[in-house]
Amino acid sequence: MSSASKNIESVLVENRVFPPDARATEGARISGMAAYDALCKEAEDDFEGFWTRLAKGNLQWTKPFTRTLDESKAPFYEWFGDGELNASANCLDKHIGTPVENKTAIVFEADDGTVTNVTYKELLARVSQFANALKAAGIQKGDRVVIYMPMTVEGVIAMQACARIGATHSVVFGGFSAKALQERIIDAGAVAVITANYQLRGGKELPLKAIVDDGIALGGCESIKTVFVYERTPTAWNRVEGRDKTFTEALKGQGTECAPVPVNAEHPLFILYTSGSTGKPKGVQHATGGYLLWAKLTMDWTFDIKPEDVFWCTADIGWITGHTYVAYGPLAAGATQVVFEGIPTFPHAGRFWQMIEKHKVSVFYTAPTAIRSLIKAAEGDEKVHPKNWDLTSLRILGSVGEPINPEAWMWYHRNIGGERCPIVDTFWQTETGGHVITPLPGATPLVPGSCTLPLPGIMAAIVDETGKDLPNGAGGMLVIKRPWPSMIRTIWNDPERFKKSYFPEEMGGTIYLAGDGAVRSEDRGYFRITGRIDDVLNVSGHRLGTMEIESALVSKTDLVAEAAVVGRPDDVTGEAVCAFVVLKRARPTGEEAKQIANELRNWVAKEIGPIAKPKDIRFGDNLPKTRSGKIMRRLLRSIAKGEEITQDTSTLENPAILEQLSERL
Ligand code: PRX
Repeated sequence: MSSASKNIESVLVENRVFPPDARATEGARISGMAAYDALCKEAEDDFEGFWTRLAKGNLQWTKPFTRTLDESKAPFYEWFGDGELNASANCLDKHIGTPVENKTAIVFEADDGTVTNVTYKELLARVSQFANALKAAGIQKGDRVVIYMPMTVEGVIAMQACARIGATHSVVFGGFSAKALQERIIDAGAVAVITANYQLRGGKELPLKAIVDDGIALGGCESIKTVFVYERTPTAWNRVEGRDKTFTEALKGQGTECAPVPVNAEHPLFILYTSGSTGKPKGVQHATGGYLLWAKLTMDWTFDIKPEDVFWCTADIGWITGHTYVAYGPLAAGATQVVFEGIPTFPHAGRFWQMIEKHKVSVFYTAPTAIRSLIKAAEGDEKVHPKNWDLTSLRILGSVGEPINPEAWMWYHRNIGGERCPIVDTFWQTETGGHVITPLPGATPLVPGSCTLPLPGIMAAIVDETGKDLPNGAGGMLVIKRPWPSMIRTIWNDPERFKKSYFPEEMGGTIYLAGDGAVRSEDRGYFRITGRIDDVLNVSGHRLGTMEIESALVSKTDLVAEAAVVGRPDDVTGEAVCAFVVLKRARPTGEEAKQIANELRNWVAKEIGPIAKPKDIRFGDNLPKTRSGKIMRRLLRSIAKGEEITQDTSTLENPAILEQLSERL
């Protein structure tokens, strides 16, 4: 039995339960299940009243809203639609004149270990100054700005400055290619790019600005008027006269005060591109009011954040986790947070644990893939085992991005959490804006591998294809039956795709379909996510569309005739990309096959980004197809896993190709 199927089996028989102990419940905002149940009941009894109370209590409105939820244009729901506020004011200005103003907002640890602290007051001044620089470049409310930045204080400042003037940001992860960047610039119609000359990761300098130049040079980016360049390193870079401005140049002469521009609650705060089932990434559009409410609320509910906490979310600002739990949530909550530029394995695989000790981190939030790779490292080298560091500052641990297997959960619980820290296994998506199904640290009894129960007001359920509820124990599709404030508002430029992707007609057209399979446990009704039900892969917590990778492969027209991509389980990355390729020339073998596979990997890295590189590439004379010509993906998934083929293959034109495709390079 492969270790992956062993993992699946152990999830199925999981019956360990870890109730929160007194240290977790005492003083917790939601303390004990009765408190959780009461909030759920409040939401059920008076849905709008519940959200009205929370939106009034957690956000500062420049114009109070009178309408909480407008369903008249469902599924284009509107929240607090006649209210006005500013997201940056709700993260920064609101702390001025309170004890938070001189508190450290960001503890920045650079790749080389250098530490810089920024207080709330300083951050406000720096955000305001950069906001003035954006205005001076002609950027206005409603304009779109692409941010292609490393994990730095400046990255957070860029996002906050856009929010301050009502510009809609679209952050593109620094690992995406020039082509991916170009596509996003064009789709968003961005007027500016904010980038850095280089990013520092693992002791290496990686270019960012040069990739921006390459992306713009691919064409169609005439909307870009300014490229702001943060000089992260003294290394030289190539300047485009008349278009490029360094941060120093842009900030020169700009004041450190900038009045936040009030925007409508539904004003798009940001667009974040993510992979879907078709080739083209979707621009997930989030609104200002509902999103920010969720960022603040989940900091309180899920992380039970306290004034003395040091919060550390290891996600990059290029992903939704880095938006909600780096750029907005911790600031809205007035917390001190660690922002880390580097990677968990540099200069050694104990870096995370060392940083927890050094900064006395109390709430730590990371991805299962990082935990699994650090387990492997710790098991292979005593020197990087977490036991070498004092982790007693920790009180809550979090997990996000993919299912956490019970083995990794137990290791995290024992070796990092010292068996005392609750683990919040938070299920959510780019589209949900923030956590939707998650344990609460002071209330929920934990079961390893389960994201447990929906947050109050989240009407999550498991249904069949027609939208009918399924009983506990039966696997089905995860849906959310009522709208919630931080939900996706639309797909930028593509409202039809929004409706089709998330609100299927067969289910009535108003119920949110998450795209994940799930099952609820018989005893507690706890949710367990079983994985995507569409053609989306989750590699190291990064979302990738199989079609996106297939399009990239077949766009190598001199070489590739046809390609099919599937996922297979991987012990460290969760899933791995496996590509089956038919070339325009004879099927290669031996060294030649290895060399072509490498060429294709590099091609995919160039088209999408290194994260999309197929781990396995197999060559065949053809792909297994049905008589009608449809690729038999299920069969390919079995081959990728190395499973015995039990499906009926009698309809295959050429069964010999199965043998070819099973051959690993
Ligand atoms: O499949 C689910 C998985 O990640 C997908 C969302 O990916 P993305 O939009 O990139 O957002 C990731 C960060 C929130 C989901 O559809 N996923 C996320 N969290 C979990 C999870 N699967 C299982 N358990 C989780 N806690």
